[in-house]
Amino acid sequence: MDTGDQKPKISETKDGSTTLYSPLFDQHYHNPNGAVAESKIVFFETPGLLKELQSRNHLAIFEMGFGTGLNFILLKHYLEELQNPPTVDFYSVEAYPVDPDTAAQFDFGEELNRHKPGEILKSIFTEVNPGANSFSISESLTLNLFIGTFEEYPKPDQPIHFFFQDPFSPDVNAELWTPEVFQSLKSYADSSATLSTYCAASSARAAMAVAGWKIARAPGALGKREMTLASLNEKNLGSYKRVNEHRLIERYQKGDFD
Ligand SMILES: C[S@@+](CC[C@H](N)C(=O)[O-])C[C@H]1O[C@@H](n2cnc3c(N)ncnc32)[C@H](O)[C@@H]1O
Repeated sequence: MDTGDQKPKISETKDGSTTLYSPLFDQHYHNPNGAVAESKIVFFETPGLLKELQSRNHLAIFEMGFGTGLNFILLKHYLEELQNPPTVDFYSVEAYPVDPDTAAQFDFGEELNRHKPGEILKSIFTEVNPGANSFSISESLTLNLFIGTFEEYPKPDQPIHFFFQDPFSPDVNAELWTPEVFQSLKSYADSSATLSTYCAASSARAAMAVAGWKIARAPGALGKREMTLASLNEKNLGSYKRVNEHRLIERYQKGDFD
């Protein structure tokens, strides 16, 4: 996990918020058209998490790739806007944690900067050790951050309601888009669970379908045509247009995505 001079570098996105560029994966951590705006749409609005935060007493969320911690800070922000927030256990895994001094420089825009994300993330990245780490962030929010690869990740200790599938894209981070990975996520899931991702690649959808997820396409964020939603129960996919899982499974078995 030594990234040497492959250390991620800060870059600004079009909504003014910062993201990182990873020389190791040759990819930005977020959409260059707006890091915060994309996270809101892909992980909070489209899968219905924003609504569920208002009505549930408790939620468990799993994120693949903690990265800059932006999704986590956004969650903290939404919880603090509620009068009676649910308790949320946020589980995340990160193989290449950002160095604390880089984290201190994050700018997530005016709305989120009120929460001093640089300070919070700097202290998280200073304190983490390899393996499991737990931080009680507020009365309603706990962060369970595993430092290591997903391959080493132990199953969360409670069923997950929302999955943020947020690795780099399948062409550079293929090991996190396999049927085996989606099978593991399925084994973590509550029966009501929804998985969302910015990715609309057929190969990624096929891997989900082979693992038994039901899939829908939704309008993509900020100039992207589509994103993907998945659930074990098709009722959770609402009115979003369904993808033909049988066809994708056939294509996967024929080797179309090898
Ligand atoms: C697109 S970034 C995640 C962005 C993040 N969710 C955020 O809010 O900033 C993908 C992350 O996945 C991590 N990653 C890549 N391969 C991994 C693996 N096998 N296990 C765990 N983390 C991995 C990368 O280091 C990177 O931080």
